[in-house]
Amino acid sequence: MSKLAIVGGTGLSKLVNLEKVYKRVIKTPYGEPSSPLTFGTFGGKEVIFMARHGFGHTIPPHKINYQANMWALKEAGATEVLAIAAVGGINKTISPSSIVIPDQLIDYTWGRCGTYFEDDLEQVTHIDFTFPYSKDLRERLRQLVGRLGLSVSMTATYACTQGPRLETAAEIKRLRGDGCDIVGMTGMPEAALARELNLAYACCAVVVNWAAGIDDQEICMDDMQVYAEKGMQTVYRLLNALAKAPE
Ligand code: HPA
Repeated sequence: MSKLAIVGGTGLSKLVNLEKVYKRVIKTPYGEPSSPLTFGTFGGKEVIFMARHGFGHTIPPHKINYQANMWALKEAGATEVLAIAAVGGINKTISPSSIVIPDQLIDYTWGRCGTYFEDDLEQVTHIDFTFPYSKDLRERLRQLVGRLGLSVSMTATYACTQGPRLETAAEIKRLRGDGCDIVGMTGMPEAALARELNLAYACCAVVVNWAAGIDDQEICMDDMQVYAEKGMQTVYRLLNALAKAPE
């Protein structure tokens, strides 16, 4: 049976409506995860929740211990991970407060530990990452999106930048030229580590701003908050439906 873990990002540091809640601190060989794991039932199904930036939202994207986080979820029995992430919109058809379930990514980060296959190896391992997100989990999400009548883009390339600063207009122009539609800071190495652990991983991104230079305005944190809250209402509907859906 599958067990769903939800990794909450900016705008989702806890799951309201989670019932029969208890928390567990999971130790990993890679150090401490961002937060204790929260276990509970959501939409009648058991789920595991992790706050990617910590419960107080204190861990910046480049300091997150992605290795410990994915390991802890695996250790706790998760078989699939839905990662919620705030992003900027690069593609002009993807405006703030939209929801995007990307199908591809490009990794622009550096210096993050991106593999479990590093030390004491019996042999070198290269995971297949042609399609970085789980086909099966994305398909289930696509069906739920249709059933709920939501407007969600399902074909998009996620650019993962280093942060924590936002990008320059020239950087976004380059990402656009590379074919990126949205930009965030936490999608990698999270997705690759999940694949190495055989966790089915998909991302549900909430667009909280136009990426730098797309609309000739500076990016305003207060506006980002407003769009995050608006987009999160749709994410909640999707999460509820996912938790309730039969496998
Ligand atoms: N760039 C990178 N990460 C982000 C952005 C952005 O514009 N908005 C939210 N996360």
